[in-house]
Amino acid sequence: MSTLERAEAAERAMIEELDRNVMKSVIYTSGERDPRLPVPRPPDNGKYYMMGHDPRLPRMPDRPTLFDFFTYRFGPIQHVMQSARLAQKNGVGEKIVLACLLHDIAVAGFIRGDHGYWSAQLVEPYVDPEVSWAIRYHQALRFFPDESVGYKYPESYLKLFGPDYKPEPYIERDYQYARGHKWYMSARLICVNDLYSFDPSVRVELEEFTDIVGRNFKQPKEGLGFDASPAAHMWRTIMWPTKYL
Ligand SMILES: [Fe+2]
Ligand SMILES: [Fe+2]
Repeated sequence: MSTLERAEAAERAMIEELDRNVMKSVIYTSGERDPRLPVPRPPDNGKYYMMGHDPRLPRMPDRPTLFDFFTYRFGPIQHVMQSARLAQKNGVGEKIVLACLLHDIAVAGFIRGDHGYWSAQLVEPYVDPEVSWAIRYHQALRFFPDESVGYKYPESYLKLFGPDYKPEPYIERDYQYARGHKWYMSARLICVNDLYSFDPSVRVELEEFTDIVGRNFKQPKEGLGFDASPAAHMWRTIMWPTKYL
């Protein structure tokens, strides 16, 4: 058996132990398999399909808060917390500290590609428009230096994408747009505080940001995902990523 076959067999065994069948969304496997092909359907084994909480994941409270998602669903969050702490140390306002704390949440728990746009959309109904705007445009701005604030093209991007990488035209377009916008510096400040915040020896706790989040993030009383905002379904998908429909 190849490594991939072994991994698939282990996964099948794990799914067989569940009392529900699990079907993966096409986007989970697109590329590994041709998304145009019908999704392979293992035998039902007389089981129903997953329609809610996946027992392989930690259960979330009935009315989840933003921090519950950080705790139970997001991958390593030191990066965003370190960025937020650095921003605070650099004396930026609360809105920007919050923007730094949220700027990469799509990478941490949802979808990587176009993470600035996804992260912004996730939080848009709950934050000041300047916060989601800054989060949306930090992604494009990361690729373009701004000497006026000492921001250079990231070393890490040279290593990650190669010296010849050129951002796609829509990133260039959005950068040009953002550069002329009144909130340009808010998005730029995310980049400035993003750059130096990968120190593995520094540990930051979420509680450090309780007050700032409390004042600047409109937590829905029904719980994030159960409110009727235009982003609620995205939070539900993070909570229940294997729901059949
Ligand atoms: Fe980012
Ligand atoms: Fe980042």
